[in-house]
Formats: sequence, structure tokens, C-alpha cells
Amino acid sequence: MSDLPDEFKCTITNWEYIYSLCRDVSDDVRRDEFEPDVIVALARGGWFAGRCICDFLGMDDLTSLKMEHYVGTAEKSGEPTIRYPMPEGSVEGKDVLIIDDIADTGGSIKRAQEYVEDREAGEVRTATLQLLQTSEFEPDYVGEQLEEWAWVVYPWNFIEDMVDLISGVMAKADEDAFSKRDIRHYLKEYHEVDRIGMEIAQPNRLTEILTEMERREVVTMTTPGEWALVD
Ligand code: ADE
Repeated sequence: MSDLPDEFKCTITNWEYIYSLCRDVSDDVRRDEFEPDVIVALARGGWFAGRCICDFLGMDDLTSLKMEHYVGTAEKSGEPTIRYPMPEGSVEGKDVLIIDDIADTGGSIKRAQEYVEDREAGEVRTATLQLLQTSEFEPDYVGEQLEEWAWVVYPWNFIEDMVDLISGVMAKADEDAFSKRDIRHYLKEYHEVDRIGMEIAQPNRLTEILTEMERREVVTMTTPGEWALVD
């Protein structure tokens, strides 16, 4: 998220919504009569989906692959690399379903497919819960295609993303201190996150996020009900 511009659209999701996308992907796999022996869930975004899809399809073989986007010392590139190689024998001769949360550029899932195919797997198919039009790779199974590019805030990293988003809007708006109302105002202005949408998806979370931002020393409370970035 750190290499994004300071204004972009965000969509906040919840567990129910994402779970229904896992069900949709599973229904498509079943309808296709594809019966994978193992699911490879890409870390970290594909883990929840991988576990749920195992349940929907009645599978118990679930493994993981961690994709990273680093080239050198904290320098990001478009080329994803594999952080933890898969244990010997995890996919050899097996039909594999690779799952991730979202295909944005499509680089991660494409690279994962090549990696798994290089390990003498049987048939290898790919799935993502969401697909953006920016993706150069089209997975075999997609929960939904988004019309417009957005940063999707998933429930499993809600706090992580909201800490980044709120500290980002505070830096951009450049005021001395921010009330909750100010924060909501700038989330709307810079990220199209409206109060009702956020409260429906993730009710009563703003206080929790601000408390966590204080604990992580990202913000301090300057006066009761107002926060400023720690520089
Ligand atoms: N990871 C990569 N692209 C993303 C996006 N648009 N939303 C959420 N997570 C992502």
C-alpha cells in the first residue's frame, strides 16, 4: 500500500461479503468438476480464502506460498519473488488450485503458477476472490470482477490498512490535530470512504483503530478527542 498515490478509492469489506466470494469461487470449481488434490494459498491475502474453499470443497490438503515484491534492500519492483519455498513433495503429481485474494497487476498469481508448474504438479489452476481490470493475468476462477480500480480493505488486515490510510490522510491534510469527524471527512475526501459504508462493513471500529495507533506510537492524543501524527 505504501507505494500508492495519496488519493485513491478504497472499498471496505466484511467477513460475510468475503465469505460469499469464497463460496462463489468454490461453486465454480465444483461446477467445472475440477477436483484439486491440494490448495496453495498465497500468503498472506489468500489464507482465509484457502481455508474456506477447503471447507466448501471438502478438502484437507492446504499449503502456502509467500510472494514478495522486493528486489534488494527494501526496494520494491514489479517482479514478485518467493519468500518461503514450498516443502519438497507438496505438489508433485498433484492437481493444484492456487488461491489469492485479489489480482491487481496479476504478477503474484502468475508467478505462483509458474513456480508450482515447475515443481512437476499435475493440473494447476488459479483463483482469486477479486479481479481488477489492471490485471494482465486472468485467473481460471474469479469471485467478482471490479469495474473500477480500488484498494480493497479486507477484514483480515482491517487495522493494518486503516492505520496506513488514517496516517496518510493526516499527513496530506496537514492540520495540527484531528477529531474523529475530521478523520472521517478526509477518508471520504481522499479515499471515497463514507461513514455509513464504513459503519455497515466494520461497525464501531474507529476508536479501536485510534487506540491502536496510539499504542503503536503513530499518533498521540493532543487534547481529549483530538489526535496528531507523531513525527
Ligand atoms: N493487493 C494488491 N492490490 C490490492 C488492492 N487493490 N486492494 C487490496 N489489496 C491489494
